[in-house]
Amino acid sequence: MSMDVTSIQQILTSDLATSHVNVRGWVYRRRESKKTVFLWIRDATGVIQATIKDDVVAWENAKKVTIESSVILSGTVKKDKRAPGGVEIVANDITIIGLAESFPIAKDLSEPFLRDIRHLWLRSRKMSLIMRVRSETLWLAHKFFREHGFVEISPPMFITSACEGGSTLFEANYFDRELYLTQSAQLYSEVLIYPLEKVYTCAPSFRAEKSRTIRHLCEYWHIEPEWAFGDLDDVMQVEEDFVSYISQGIANLCKRELSELGVDGDSLLKIIPPFPRITYTDAMETLTRKGFDMEWGEDMGYDEEKSLAEEFKGPFFVYDYPKKTKAFYCKTYRDRPEIAMSVDMMVPRVGELTTGGAREDDKDELIKRIKETGLNVEDYSWYIDMRRYGTVPHVGFGLGVERLLMWMLGLENIVDTIPFPRTLRRSFP
Ligand code: 4AD
Ligand code: MG
Repeated sequence: MSMDVTSIQQILTSDLATSHVNVRGWVYRRRESKKTVFLWIRDATGVIQATIKDDVVAWENAKKVTIESSVILSGTVKKDKRAPGGVEIVANDITIIGLAESFPIAKDLSEPFLRDIRHLWLRSRKMSLIMRVRSETLWLAHKFFREHGFVEISPPMFITSACEGGSTLFEANYFDRELYLTQSAQLYSEVLIYPLEKVYTCAPSFRAEKSRTIRHLCEYWHIEPEWAFGDLDDVMQVEEDFVSYISQGIANLCKRELSELGVDGDSLLKIIPPFPRITYTDAMETLTRKGFDMEWGEDMGYDEEKSLAEEFKGPFFVYDYPKKTKAFYCKTYRDRPEIAMSVDMMVPRVGELTTGGAREDDKDELIKRIKETGLNVEDYSWYIDMRRYGTVPHVGFGLGVERLLMWMLGLENIVDTIPFPRTLRRSFP
């Protein structure tokens, strides 16, 4: 359609009073009095009010048009203090592109219903704002790693052996074989540090999470850098730089979205390194003091993490975990073989945001760990090869994009951070 179209954002932010404009979008709201129809038109950039009087050509269509119909509206921009945004369009013509049937969302706004009609609910103001912040977050993540010399690699989604334990593996039919959906790109990224040294992935990970929580998805987007010659201290530094970079970036790039979503952008600007660091042992002491009945060596769950996070205002690290709480690939201290060089970043309300650490780089130690964990050494032959041919100390971490968004935007539930959430109960639409 070749015609001059002005974006709503442009009309709202530049002085176009008395200009004639064409706007293309959807009817967001509609109100009618005897001689006037008020339409709120939405495009990707914003919402604007249009008024149609009974003496113009547009009147017939204005009477007929329904919520979520797609339209082209032509008219004159007029300043009006009563209109939201201080500007409105006095329309003289409306073309209806697609007349919408009665839109179901107006009546029922219950959570289960909105999840059933996710494909329509994604048009809501709230969801569209979140999707914009999500897009900027991913863009900033790529920018951060590029600026730090990391090369993006594309990991496989079909995999042959577990990275994060068998209980959350999804099985997949692969011709005559059984494969799994990936839980993490890590083991494959470790292969690519040999030619590229610093790599990262931003890709889906799949977890068969059998319980319903506000912070677990069965399919989520996972950002995972991996690099050669690093240690645990480097991991924490890159993580805090990364999370601070994203927080600052979102505060600057998404001012409008944050304010509409009711998020205090200034609090994101205050996310500045260094983040506090405590050991797992310190964390246990704090939790015991707070009344939790935990023994050294036990893994923390959501309640423990959330309670621990109440002690801090922002992100913090818990490091040096008992080996048995962590995966087989975690490197242990040579003089403290029960302790893994592993670190989790935690944030208020959400708990764990990242897990990272040093990888076992000694072939014999690794084989021992694989056996100890009850895994099959054969399945990991290619992974063990990395320790055979020019092994190096190396590190990395994984961060869930949706948890990051949930934390930054203060959202109640992780499902609102991704367009089509996959959970235990929900895989439709
Ligand atoms: O802690 P996880 O399982 O660690 C790994 O997968 C490592 N291989 C990462 C690495 O070192 N490269 O997962 C990493 C992060 C978690 O901290 C969490 O933010 C997110 O991934 N995550 C989930 N997010 C949403 N839903 C789930 N079911 C998630 N499981 C993990
Ligand atoms: Mg973890």
